Amino acid sequence: MHDVILSVNELKKSYAEKTVVNGISFDIKRGEVFGLLGPNGAGKTTTISMISGLIIPDVGRIQVDGLDFSEQANAIKAKLGLVPQELALYPTLSARDNLLFFGRIYGIRGKMLRERVDSVLDIVKLADRAKDAIQTYSGGMKRRINIAAGLLHQPDVLFLDEPTVGVDPQSRNAIFESLEDLKRQGLTILYTTHYMEEAQRLCDRVAIIDQGEIIALDTPRNLIQSLGGGMIRLGLNNGHLDTVQRRGKLVSAIKNISRRDDYLLVETHKAQDALMGLLEITNQLDARVTSLEVLEPNLETVFLQMTGKSLRE
Ligand SMILES: Nc1ncnc2c1ncn2[C@@H]1O[C@H](COP(=O)(O)OP(=O)(O)OP(=O)(O)O)[C@@H](O)[C@H]1O
Ligand SMILES: [Mg+2]
Repeated sequence: MHDVILSVNELKKSYAEKTVVNGISFDIKRGEVFGLLGPNGAGKTTTISMISGLIIPDVGRIQVDGLDFSEQANAIKAKLGLVPQELALYPTLSARDNLLFFGRIYGIRGKMLRERVDSVLDIVKLADRAKDAIQTYSGGMKRRINIAAGLLHQPDVLFLDEPTVGVDPQSRNAIFESLEDLKRQGLTILYTTHYMEEAQRLCDRVAIIDQGEIIALDTPRNLIQSLGGGMIRLGLNNGHLDTVQRRGKLVSAIKNISRRDDYLLVETHKAQDALMGLLEITNQLDARVTSLEVLEPNLETVFLQMTGKSLRE
């Protein structure tokens, strides 16, 4: 037994001239829920596809439970369960028949197969709908069956690629409850999302990924604490941005001010005091405030601070 169950080292992948994953490294400990949090196009699916052996990295090393992917791909794949971003279910078959089909692909047979199908249907709380054809399911219920399929062969690590995108709130809750159950049972989970609330709720540690690179990696709590007293986004008419930035740096509650296109992004030691200081300056200058937002300290704000962009466009 290795304490680190999944180790990823300097993974790289390019398509034509475009570098999509640019040197990603992280370790996941046994029993940990690890999140890859990043906006559309950040490289999350490409990363998870390389780790699950669906695409081959240009460079880099992947080890699972001490085995090297380049040498023991099949043994590793048996330890992994992948729940892909795109659904792959047979619409005219019932949920149970879909799962029986996938189970056979994994090489499970007979009584064992029937038991596993019952067990995963329980985990995703759809046992009562098992006989219904998939085409009668909502998008969220289909996704839950997809998760069930990924669990059939009792993997050591479950990969979930944005399992809640396009999912109704009821199924989203059901998915979360299932994942929290699995976490309590000690399953290791790698989870990608661009919803920071999900990462905050579920993940023990989060890697924030942007443009193919990890720009921060820590517990949600530490990442948020690194923000200090919160952030303020202050929009001003153009003429005053530079002056307010310069004078704002002298306010003791302000840690840093950076300038964006038409607003200032202010890192604070204490948001309220910083805000008072800023408004005093804009009053003195008679500068027109065009927008003002005090951002709660959360992972979205961490991302904004690091990249100047929002996770969701
Ligand atoms: N097969 C491919 N050929 C060319 N470009 C690709 C290919 N696969 C992915 N890309 C590009 O790589 C970038 C990262 O894609 P990827 O799907 O890994 O992002 P993502 O973080 O999963 O985004 P999303 O949140 O939209 O799912 C995107 O710009 C995408 O267009
Ligand atoms: Mg993706």
